[in-house]
Amino acid sequence: MFANDPAHPLAAVTHAAPYAYYRRLAEGPPLHFDAQLDCWLATGAAGVQAVLEHVDCRVRPPGMAVPENLAGTSCGAIFAELVRMNDGARHAVPKQVLASMLGQVDLARLRHSTLQIARDHLPTGAASLNQAMFELPLFGMAGLLGFAPAQWPQLASWTRDFVACLSPLSNSDQLAGAQVAAASLLQRFKLLLGESVPDSLLVNLIGLLSQTCEATAGLIGNAVLALRLQTGLQAQLQADPSLWPAMLREVSRHDPSIHNTRRHTACALEIGGAALPQGQMILVLLASAGHDASVHAEPGHFMLQRPVSPILAYGHGRHACPGQQLAQTMAAACLQAWADVLAGMPLAWRYQPSLNARIPVFMEGAAA
Ligand code: HEM
Repeated sequence: MFANDPAHPLAAVTHAAPYAYYRRLAEGPPLHFDAQLDCWLATGAAGVQAVLEHVDCRVRPPGMAVPENLAGTSCGAIFAELVRMNDGARHAVPKQVLASMLGQVDLARLRHSTLQIARDHLPTGAASLNQAMFELPLFGMAGLLGFAPAQWPQLASWTRDFVACLSPLSNSDQLAGAQVAAASLLQRFKLLLGESVPDSLLVNLIGLLSQTCEATAGLIGNAVLALRLQTGLQAQLQADPSLWPAMLREVSRHDPSIHNTRRHTACALEIGGAALPQGQMILVLLASAGHDASVHAEPGHFMLQRPVSPILAYGHGRHACPGQQLAQTMAAACLQAWADVLAGMPLAWRYQPSLNARIPVFMEGAAA
């Protein structure tokens, strides 16, 4: 362990400079037990892929479909149906519907409409940037789902309140607010789509908003930082705007918004040379895979033109993110619309407390 290292992988998520630590983890064994966190760690591209591909590594602990604090609540009812939180048959049908729906989205049109909305919501300082990076992707998704623009701000606000129930760091006020928001979202989606749409699908459409929320805000925030910190990047993008998609792709690898996910062993199994008993939690360090030198040459360097290799920041295998292209398209459009005003904006930043999402919180401060 080095002096400036994060104390453990959960602290790495919001650490100022965690990537040298992730690179060293990627050089080690694909799976090892972390006594401090009392769980297994899957590291590097090989460890992350092996766990996410394994049929007996499940998204929920055996016998606990819903976290105890959500059981019997509106949030719990939504949580129980999300494809993200289910394996096997319950996951298969709604997942197919989502994949085919998202696969039909016209990305050029989404880019165009997001550029327009982003130009109408130019950030004027740190506070409005913090708000816009959460709201804009949610406005984009709400538009795709068929909601009228007048409804977007309220939907975005309920979604932000709802996702609070998904974090183990939420306090009791946030949990209470999340219940109200979940019930309101359900009612609003029923009004839009009618009572005949099965709850399992309805809830997963709400899931599209909640999955968009923090991850895409983090991608936008981390891209704002890349524009400031990577010498010459802004000029390169100005000279050739066709590089914006590559820019967002490289941010997703170099400084990703989702650093880890979890799996639980359904039975005793052997994986990556390690023997794991049943009921073990595995912390899957997606961010270490993006910094694995055996897959990405000079992983610490921000490079726009990299050979295309899979980016594990969006997961892998049967739960892989179906929203990657949408997120990168909306984020690129926001950054492109805001680049000029951001360039002159004095900003300092810290990270929002989280165990898995790296989301900068901007403050008025010296321009970096
Ligand atoms: C930068 C933005 C995003 C990042 C980094 C991200 C990342 C991820 C990751 C890592 C997973 C897999 C989780 C796991 O296997 O445990 C995932 C799943 C998922 N994401 Fe995203 N996501 C982003 C944006 C979006 C957007 C915009 C949508 C909505 C269109 C979306 C919808 C989903 C859904 C529905 C799943 C669950 C898939 C399943 O379990 O079958 N994501 N995402």
